Parts: sequence; C-alpha cells; structure tokens
Amino acid sequence: MRQIIIAGNWKMNKGLFETEQFCKELVQFATTHHEERVRMIIAPAFPFLKIASTLLLGQPVGISAQDVSSHEDGAFTGEISASMLSSLEMQFCIIGHSERRQYHQESDTGVRDKQLILREYGIKPILCIGETLAQRDAGETSAVLISQLEGCFKDVPLESGEEVIVAYEPVWAIGTGRTASPAQAQEAHALIRNWFEENYNPEIAAAIHILYGGSVKPDNIVELLSCPDIDGGLIGGAALKLESYVQMVQSATKLIQSR
Ligand code: 13P
Repeated sequence: MRQIIIAGNWKMNKGLFETEQFCKELVQFATTHHEERVRMIIAPAFPFLKIASTLLLGQPVGISAQDVSSHEDGAFTGEISASMLSSLEMQFCIIGHSERRQYHQESDTGVRDKQLILREYGIKPILCIGETLAQRDAGETSAVLISQLEGCFKDVPLESGEEVIVAYEPVWAIGTGRTASPAQAQEAHALIRNWFEENYNPEIAAAIHILYGGSVKPDNIVELLSCPDIDGGLIGGAALKLESYVQMVQSATKLIQSR
C-alpha cells in the first residue's frame, strides 16, 4: 500500500537560523509521530541541507534537495552534482519544478537526465509536471501531461515504481491561493497513473507515488488526500510554518488511520 507523503518545498526561503529553528521544533513533533504510512519530507535550500539532515538524524523525516545538475562534474559554475548530494546522504531531490522550467529553461529532456543521474546515486527524484493556465484553458491539460511524461521517462527503466515520485503541480495553482478542485486534481492523477499502467505495467502504476502541489494548506489537504490517486502533497507556502506543516501531517495521519 502506498504511503502518504507530506513534502515541504521551502523554495528560496529560510536562512540558517530559520532552518535550524524549524528542524529543532520538528524533532519535537517527529519523536511523537509513529505513523509509518505518513512520510515527512522537507526540502531546504542547498546551503542548509547538511545542518537539516544533522538536526533530523534518526528522525522519520526525509531531506530533499530542490534541484541537481544533469552533469556528473566539471566546469559548471554554480551547479550542484548528484554525487555531492549523495555525499550528504540526500534521500530525495525535486526536479522539473515549474519555477525551474519557467525561469531556468529546464526541459523534459533535462529532467530525464537529472532523473537518471539521481537514481544512479541512490537519490529518489520528486519529478514535477503540470500544465499552465493557458494550456488548461485551451483544453490541452491531458496532452501536456502526457508529453511531459513521455519526455521525462523516455527510455527510462522502472522496476517497481518505487524509484521515483511524481508530483502533479498545475502551474496556475502554485502560490496563487487557487487550488485545483479535488475533482480536477484526481482527474490529472488518474491520467498520470494510467499512463504508467500503459507504458510500464499495472504493478508499477499501483506502486508509484503521485503527489499534488499547488496551494495545498491545512484547510484543503484532507479533501485532496481523500482522492484515490493522490498520495500526498508537495507544499510550498503552507509548509514554511511548522504549525501548519505539522497540522497537515496530523490530518494525513488521521485520514490513513481511518481507512
Ligand atoms: P504553494 O503550495 O506555495 O502553492 O507551492 C506549491 C509548490 O510549488 C510546491 O513545489
């Protein structure tokens, strides 16, 4: 059975002090969190990954980077390699976020390369896809998602579906306060799962975690997580405050325990 994943993408927020403070407070909550079917992940900025993983050592909280270079090593000023992340024992890494696609011209081919290099180093990618508002309004959502999946998974082997996490993040719902309705999100998630069934096999489709991202908050997380194909949230703004992050973890815990 799939877990519920509550992943906080901190984006370019929180310096050293705030990272330390959040992690120390999260430790206090994490020691009381015994539901293995609800997985906590946080994604601090690069410079603070080490301190976050040190402070959360032994706690049931995964640490994720927010990006990685598709190159092995070499003259790529400012880039961070998968081997560097691996030397920090990083467990997860977000790739293909719409903000990287929009501001850093990240392509599906580049995301595919990042997926492969991360997996080579034993780091699980959290691979983001999603349509823009113009694409949704033009009725192109399905075509866009399928084309992103085809590009990001071109000739990419999957054995179990546990090698990667997919995040569906409709661009129009990110940071806008405008959440996809549970029906809209479920429709996209079902399409994504179905794509894995058709292009891999039913076992992989059943095992793969598909997260929803875009204005998830304590108020709407339960109705989103109640959808059969939504396996968690990739959360920006509402994951920055410990209180609301913990609230969302607690809601997920209640939900899974009531199933
Ligand atoms: P918000 O939750 O702030 O809309 O951000 C979503 C997101 O982009 C997570 O990766």
